[in-house]
Amino acid sequence: MADPSAFLFSLAQALSVMALYPAGHPSRERAIDAAYQHADALSSGERRPFTFLEDDVVYGRERLRDLKGWDYASKLVGAGIQRLEFERAVTRDEFDGFLEELFARLNPAPADSSERRQMRSLGIRFGTVGLQGQEAAPPPPETTLDVTLGDEAETFRWLQGEIRDQGVVPLMEAEAVVRSLSVAMQAERRMVLPLLQLKEFDQYTTTHALNVSVLSMGLAEFMGLSPREVRAYGVAGMLHDLGKVRVPKDILTKPGKLTPEEWSLMRSHTVEGARLILQSDQKLDVAALVAFEHHIMINGGGYPDRHFRCDCHKASTLVHVCDVYDALRTKRPYRDAWEPAATLAYIERGVGTEFDADVATAFIAMMGKWEPRLAYASLSPAAA
Ligand SMILES: [Fe+2]
Ligand SMILES: [Fe+2]
Repeated sequence: MADPSAFLFSLAQALSVMALYPAGHPSRERAIDAAYQHADALSSGERRPFTFLEDDVVYGRERLRDLKGWDYASKLVGAGIQRLEFERAVTRDEFDGFLEELFARLNPAPADSSERRQMRSLGIRFGTVGLQGQEAAPPPPETTLDVTLGDEAETFRWLQGEIRDQGVVPLMEAEAVVRSLSVAMQAERRMVLPLLQLKEFDQYTTTHALNVSVLSMGLAEFMGLSPREVRAYGVAGMLHDLGKVRVPKDILTKPGKLTPEEWSLMRSHTVEGARLILQSDQKLDVAALVAFEHHIMINGGGYPDRHFRCDCHKASTLVHVCDVYDALRTKRPYRDAWEPAATLAYIERGVGTEFDADVATAFIAMMGKWEPRLAYASLSPAAA
């Protein structure tokens, strides 16, 4: 019977035994046989992808509770394997080939150049999430890199639907999207900022959320924050406009000026977003703060209205700059997209009034340094 947890346990067992015994040894063959039995059952049935996080494993959309803290998950993530998926029923030969490749990934020879590539054994796809089709050698930095963020966009849209319908943020999936974006950023052995370009107006919510997440992680990393903070800022960047699920669509996409009532509804996305996030998961406190504070200006202006003056969290000042950059760079129903230089000049003019000086200066410096490493992708119309 198909049992995803039993498959992974047997897979880890086989990989451990492979390190101890040479090909043909009975113990090795027995362990591989056992893993194949589970693989056969899984790949012949309803196939769902495994997603590996550092201390969790997700099968399809379901967290495998008996694999909480499973140490092999962090090994797989460390080897650049965040996802594993059977594309069809696999034969024993194909499974052997897959195990060999996986074993080589987990125990790399010193000069192994295949690191972080998407791998594909016959019928089994594994590697980083959302990097399909990147097996070719990386192009020189000044050319447009070929990035595909279809998986991430699809998961984000699902996530938004859950929030709209159930009123809760699925934290695991939100973190998985951010981790996957962060892998895409490191895919070329140095920082790349993979941004989505808007093709259809109704893709704005998704492209904006993923772009602000990528820019926020880039900036947090550029400013020397810890990997944990970088990821937390990435989640906060992705969820900053979440409260817009509570704003009517015709107001969000209205081409003309908003009436005072519509404007007040629009501004409420900050408070609504913070409320939705806080009632979902207390661990998302930074994301909740960012949702609340990302339109507050450093001189106290902006919204929502507050009864007392308070300094915004650093994550909010950082997401604020990234939010404005992406919004201005994107064509909207009521205006054209701004050019990069004009956008950076706007941010520079806002230093000390709208934007925190350290953060805005760092953003401008980051763009100066990493602009050649912006990689643009666009979503297919189906991924709106
Ligand atoms: Fe916003
Ligand atoms: Fe925004």
